[in-house]
Amino acid sequence: MQEALSALLAKVPAELAALQTRADFEAAKARYVGPHGELTALMKQLGAAPKDQRPALGKLINEAKAQLQAQLDATLRRIADAELTAQLGPAVDPTLPSPDHGPGTYHPLTLVREEMCRILRKAGFSVADGPEVETEYYCFDALNTPSDHPARDSQDTFYFPENSRFAGVAKKVEGEKYLLRTHTSSVQIRTMLKGPPPIRVISPGRVYRRDTTDATHSANFHQLEALYVDRNVTVRDLKAVLDYIFASLLGPDTQTRFRPHYFSYTEPSFEVDLSARHLPKVNKEWIEIGGCGMVDPAVFEAVGYDPKVWTGYAFGMGLERLAMLLYGIDDIRYFYQNDLRFLKQFA
Ligand code: DAH
Repeated sequence: MQEALSALLAKVPAELAALQTRADFEAAKARYVGPHGELTALMKQLGAAPKDQRPALGKLINEAKAQLQAQLDATLRRIADAELTAQLGPAVDPTLPSPDHGPGTYHPLTLVREEMCRILRKAGFSVADGPEVETEYYCFDALNTPSDHPARDSQDTFYFPENSRFAGVAKKVEGEKYLLRTHTSSVQIRTMLKGPPPIRVISPGRVYRRDTTDATHSANFHQLEALYVDRNVTVRDLKAVLDYIFASLLGPDTQTRFRPHYFSYTEPSFEVDLSARHLPKVNKEWIEIGGCGMVDPAVFEAVGYDPKVWTGYAFGMGLERLAMLLYGIDDIRYFYQNDLRFLKQFA
């Protein structure tokens, strides 16, 4: 038995060293110490040995077993380490400079926003800014939106808790609430309160609504607002500027039409549709693109302009919708996922 044990221990290291996978390891382990294993068979022979030799032989077997187990453990550790190394991939030196990916590119929404600003700048508009955290006064009250209007519902608008404070945004009315602006129309009020007419501004920016995200909705999207205030402004001026914008952005074959609508800050109010069958993925004759109208006298009164002297138009539209039309994008979620395969198409 002693020779059999020595022979077994002699061949084990080389056999174990050749093993590469867990399956091979388990098979080898079974061959030595499994129910039908070589060491197990030797242990079974112990009972047949003469009684006076049994303690010595038992000791030998125990030592052999311990040695074998240690070698098995080491082999399993080696295989597990190799598996982990394979999973981690080649070694990385985090102190090296990162690989050069070249300059970044503009996001499609930035491209459309900048193009619209360029087009409108040519028509004399300058860019005005306003905060994304607004108060009810700028977002609703001064825009002649009654306190029971559905847009003000907390189901549609994100309100901040009563005791919130924002250093950069002063409350205009005692007790009014802070909210995330639901449209860029609030910038109309901020601009008019800064000084007298004439005014010719646009304001692109982020807006927020309590919408469930799907292919055409996002709780956070972008709008472009425009406001023109002067003497003798008419609906014809409004229609002409919209025709000019969309022909410039989408091509001379683009047409626009007005449909009567209601907005509390304009009278009359319209929804603007455009027709641009030459664009990719446009399969409808008319597509709604924004809202517009002639500034309501109540809004002029709210900002201290004399409605008998001043007239004006305003319009607002979604930048995502425009970018989707222009580039043939059919899901709004692509804009926010930062997927380079999408973004690189606009390089
Ligand atoms: N604020 C409107 C909206 O978010 C869009 C709009 C309509 C803006 C009419 C205007 C306007 O300036 O005159 O749906």
